[in-house]
Amino acid sequence: NSGDKRFLPDGEPSLPALREAARRCQGCSLYRNATQTVFGTGPPDATFMFVGEQPGDQEDRQGAPFVGPAGRVLARAIEEAGIDRDRVYLTNAVKHFKFQTRGKRRIHERPSAAEIAACRPWLTAELRVVDPVVTVVLGATAARALLGPAFRVTRRRGEPIPRGVGSYYVATIHPSAVLRAPSGQRGPAYEGFLADVRVAARLGG
Ligand code: URA
Ligand code: SF4
Repeated sequence: NSGDKRFLPDGEPSLPALREAARRCQGCSLYRNATQTVFGTGPPDATFMFVGEQPGDQEDRQGAPFVGPAGRVLARAIEEAGIDRDRVYLTNAVKHFKFQTRGKRRIHERPSAAEIAACRPWLTAELRVVDPVVTVVLGATAARALLGPAFRVTRRRGEPIPRGVGSYYVATIHPSAVLRAPSGQRGPAYEGFLADVRVAARLGG
């Protein structure tokens, strides 16, 4: 499935043009209940692209990726790995928040394979423009979008995987998995995550 390209601008659009067009995407049904499209943020010449799953509750409200609790875990690892924030582009495999309402709370729901496929042209377009040296694949949803359904993060995390000439994917767990880990395992989970981000840092120079 090549996804739904109907909403993408023709030609070789810039990031601002993509971001503007994505505001009106109706490539799958997720636009209906979410507050807004959460497009990627960062410079077009970023060395590193971090790809998450989808915006969470805070991201949906604020309109920017990784501004909530998982984003704080990610920001800490990026800093501890010595990666300059000015060299980082942050985005998600799916650009709208998928959730179920329980009382006043909005509970995150996993995007389906069809939703991941529908949204993939936006991610592909971001990769084409930014063409980062290292693309860090955060968790199973981003892995499905970028590395296919057979890819297993648990088996291949922290391993440089070629993405064209001189550029790589590095897959790792999603930062929210660190937050979900039982309290006694949170430290080791974070250290494992950080070790994978350090692999990315070295590849990016
Ligand atoms: N989790 C994600 O995958 N992406 C975000 O932007 C925030 C939380
Ligand atoms: Fe379009 Fe992606 Fe939003 Fe679906 S999730 S409506 S494909 S931007």
